[in-house]
Amino acid sequence: MKNFNYHNPTQIVFGKGRLTKLDGLVPKNSRVLVLYGGGSVKKYGTLEKVLRVLPGREIFEFGGIEPNPQFTTLMKAVVLVKQHNIDFLLAVGGGSVMDGTKFVALAANYDGDAAELLTDRGSVAAVTKTIPIGTVVTLPATGSEMNAGGVVSYAGGKLVFSSPLVFPVFSILDPVLTYTLPAKQIANGIIDTFIHTVEQYVTFPAEGRFQDRTAEGILLTLIEIGKKTIDEPTDYDARANLVWCATNALNGLIGAGVPQDWTTHMIGHELTAMFGIDHGETLAILQPAIWKVRKQQKREKLLQYAERVWNITAGTDDERIDAAIAKTSQFFQELGASTSLSSYDIGENDIDAVVQALEKHRLTKLSETGEVTLAISREILLAAL
Ligand code: NZQ
Ligand code: ZN
Repeated sequence: MKNFNYHNPTQIVFGKGRLTKLDGLVPKNSRVLVLYGGGSVKKYGTLEKVLRVLPGREIFEFGGIEPNPQFTTLMKAVVLVKQHNIDFLLAVGGGSVMDGTKFVALAANYDGDAAELLTDRGSVAAVTKTIPIGTVVTLPATGSEMNAGGVVSYAGGKLVFSSPLVFPVFSILDPVLTYTLPAKQIANGIIDTFIHTVEQYVTFPAEGRFQDRTAEGILLTLIEIGKKTIDEPTDYDARANLVWCATNALNGLIGAGVPQDWTTHMIGHELTAMFGIDHGETLAILQPAIWKVRKQQKREKLLQYAERVWNITAGTDDERIDAAIAKTSQFFQELGASTSLSSYDIGENDIDAVVQALEKHRLTKLSETGEVTLAISREILLAAL
């Protein structure tokens, strides 16, 4: 196991009806900006409930943060923050709203052009204070509620930023608030959680036994409850398990001290930026293809995954790995996702442009070993057709 630092300061307030705890979590007499997305929180009453439990604060609102939040939209919120001396940010929504809020917190405290926060890691490090953030999660998927990262759309790409200053102070996870999600968004959330987990697990053996067993626990739970929580969206326990898996798949716990491979996410971000495919959908397309192409390098962990997650013990090594990849694709398909680029009308002619975008974003040495060059990314995209 490698050396690591692990510090996660986010307080989780989990369960049915826990929204009422907001009053004790948001500082009294603060000037709060409540940020939300395209309207689901209004339509389903979550915003109203939030506002009701926050007496005694000066409340401002910023709605309209779109999925895959746009830099230009978020900069409008930065103007509001400065204009009204906001001292607390409350994100009510899914990953896009939480990520967008994190970006606003940084950008409002950055002296230069805020786009630099996305294009130059050194700029993020130059920000030494931010506005505290709380979240009320309405979509279990990204883990943004308990991590220090975010993704913002800028200049035709999806760019990642990270700063310990944007860990939410608290996150309220009430599974009931997610009941209104359409089936496709639940499937996206299950797949995103699944892929976050395997990207920190299906690499090479590193004696991270706790991390491996915990990752396997998350994967097995998703397989157990995935279809059920789509078919029976108001089954509290199934949904509660999804919500808690999503948070723990990307809060630093299972990735501490072990190799990580973010190839799926990095290529996936390009597919979202270029073709508008949902984040979770891109991952379902790419993961099986990546494992086919990287079978040799990931051999030992793929065999472990086959046995411990899918209970595949018969056949040669290659047969067991192939069966595990097939099982994974089948799982995604049963959730309603597609696992090929062609089902989104993307063909061989489109691949050059994706590879060029990877090059533009300097994503030329991906994977746990940095071996995934542009040529291998091309091979992966071809395998995903
Ligand atoms: O905008 P509204 O009207 O609220 O509708 C949203 C949106 O259309 C809707 N929705 C959310 N909660 C709902 C609901 N509809 C009904 N009932 C509810 N309870 O769902 C749609 C998708 O929302 P979005 O926030 O975009 O989805 P998600 O949570 O999957 O977030 C995706 C974003 O997170 C980034 C992705 O790249 C993408 O931009 N990621 C962030 C990560 C992180 N911070 O660590 C890691 C992830 O890998 C990911 O890259
Ligand atoms: Zn993701």
